[in-house]
Amino acid sequence: MKDPIIFVEHLYKRYSGGEWIFENASFSVSSGDFLFLLGSSGSGKTTLIKIISGQESFDGGTVLVAGKNLRKLYPSRIHTWRRHIGIVFQDFRLLMDLTVEDNISLPLIIMGFSKEEIKVRVMAVLRLVNLEEKRRVRCRFLSGGERQLVSIGRAIVHSPILILADEPTGNLDDEHAKRVLKLFSAFHRRGQTLIVATHDRRLPLWVEGAKVLMIHEKDLVEIGPTKTGESRL
Ligand SMILES: Nc1ncnc2c1ncn2[C@@H]1O[C@H](COP(=O)(O)OP(=O)(O)OP(=O)(O)O)[C@@H](O)[C@H]1O
Ligand SMILES: [Mg+2]
Repeated sequence: MKDPIIFVEHLYKRYSGGEWIFENASFSVSSGDFLFLLGSSGSGKTTLIKIISGQESFDGGTVLVAGKNLRKLYPSRIHTWRRHIGIVFQDFRLLMDLTVEDNISLPLIIMGFSKEEIKVRVMAVLRLVNLEEKRRVRCRFLSGGERQLVSIGRAIVHSPILILADEPTGNLDDEHAKRVLKLFSAFHRRGQTLIVATHDRRLPLWVEGAKVLMIHEKDLVEIGPTKTGESRL
């Protein structure tokens, strides 16, 4: 068995004053897996994505991600560690007054890539997400679906080993959603690990060999992988 890139054991989480969202939940993700995280609205998908990307604390249990124990990860180290990860936020978190290409460049600028390398990578990503013609447009003037594609571009531009995508197709029509999943499948074949959180139960059926992790009664239950021949891409 391949090394787990994510190992979560006996996870407890609740927001102050609220009910438990996770109660003794455990799961692991092997390096190179394509995993869908399914659960109804409010079940805790975004919370789990935030926990495993070090943006949210938890009340009990062990969380190991990309070789780090997140309980012991010093805040000053979190930015260096997070370079291994690409995050597609449910609410995009784009800089609205910057252009499409400037938003996608940001992780590369922060990581100190050269100007030439940034240009090459950003152009390649713009092609992948089909936004070449909009590259000089400020994000403020984009549609919801286009903003979603920019946020996907920004998450993949630095070739992270782990991509965490929170409802990455929530604002896209089926054609664009399939295109994004196709893109993710290509990353999967290249060896990257992907976790896609969604309430859309159809999505796993579009990706052959994907695993499914379901949030059920404050626990995490694995119910995959999808069978050969079910892929609709
Ligand atoms: N910062 C917060 N403070 C308090 N409660 C919160 C906070 N963030 C989320 N919650 C609550 O935690 C629960 C899980 O929220 P979460 O956003 O993780 O759900 P989700 O599965 O991502 O839902 P959706 O499908 O609507 O995106 C919800 O009941 C929500 O109201
Ligand atoms: Mg959510």
